[in-house]
Amino acid sequence: MSTPEPSPRVLVVTGAASGLGREIAVQALAQDWTVALLDRDARSVTAAADELGVLAVAADVTSPAELGTAFATVVERLGPLDGLVNSAGLTRPGPSSTLPETDWRTVVDVDLSGTFYACQAAFPHFARDAAIVNLASIAAVRGLPQRTAYSAAKAGVVGLTRSLAAEWAPRRLRVNAVGPSWVDTPLTRRMAEEGAIDLKEMTDRVPLGRLGTPRDVAEAVLFLLDQTRAGYITGQTLYVDGGFTWAG
Ligand SMILES: NC(=O)c1ccc[n+]([C@@H]2O[C@H](COP(=O)([O-])OP(=O)(O)OC[C@H]3O[C@@H](n4cnc5c(N)ncnc54)[C@H](O)[C@@H]3O)[C@@H](O)[C@H]2O)c1
Repeated sequence: MSTPEPSPRVLVVTGAASGLGREIAVQALAQDWTVALLDRDARSVTAAADELGVLAVAADVTSPAELGTAFATVVERLGPLDGLVNSAGLTRPGPSSTLPETDWRTVVDVDLSGTFYACQAAFPHFARDAAIVNLASIAAVRGLPQRTAYSAAKAGVVGLTRSLAAEWAPRRLRVNAVGPSWVDTPLTRRMAEEGAIDLKEMTDRVPLGRLGTPRDVAEAVLFLLDQTRAGYITGQTLYVDGGFTWAG
């Protein structure tokens, strides 16, 4: 007698046109998830999705209306959701005493409110025993100069992760976060080019002696998404940081 094929698990990754989101999508495909990429950069997300042979949806996470349409499209095409990864994010480093209001608002709108809006928009579409993983950062718990908006937004992500975990547990929906330190992605490279970080100094401060790789982060995200391996874990933030958070 043949064993029935397991039904495909459907995952949406936001911010999936680049960096960590894209790598999470790549590793999820390798672990047999059915993946949809969501990003506000329509051209890049379509190109990334074509390359991976998956569905692309263009939406800005600061727009609940766009997210509503995007999740409805995914569910219509692929079925109910088993996972959501919120990787859309950005940063605007700068001295706090003169940080422009628009920079503060942009970072909080995208990194914090955008994460919440995506959770909210996806909520009605989750299957039983589904999971959300939010991208936080070591900035949520370490005092990093010139990162006020980013630190506040990421601390907010840790807080909303706990609160949603408590509220949605009865719905058999787990909510966790990962908090990377410095990972070699386009975002980190841009900050180094702008002089906002010194990659050598950052690397020297990491106890394990290297920057993180997108794969390091993706594997932690996929662990937390997996009902078999992480089915009793919710409300947690897993720092993927080479030891930096507590010893860097
Ligand atoms: N790279 C790191 O070292 C690092 C460390 C800690 C945390 N993080 C977090 O990981 C996440 C991903 O970072 P990354 O390094 O991959 O960045 P990245 O810049 O390479 O990719 C971010 C993606 O998010 C998309 N995006 C930005 N604003 C959006 C919006 N309003 N709506 C939809 N999509 C939007 C961008 O188009 C881009 O494709 C972010 O939340 C970031 O704060 C990154």
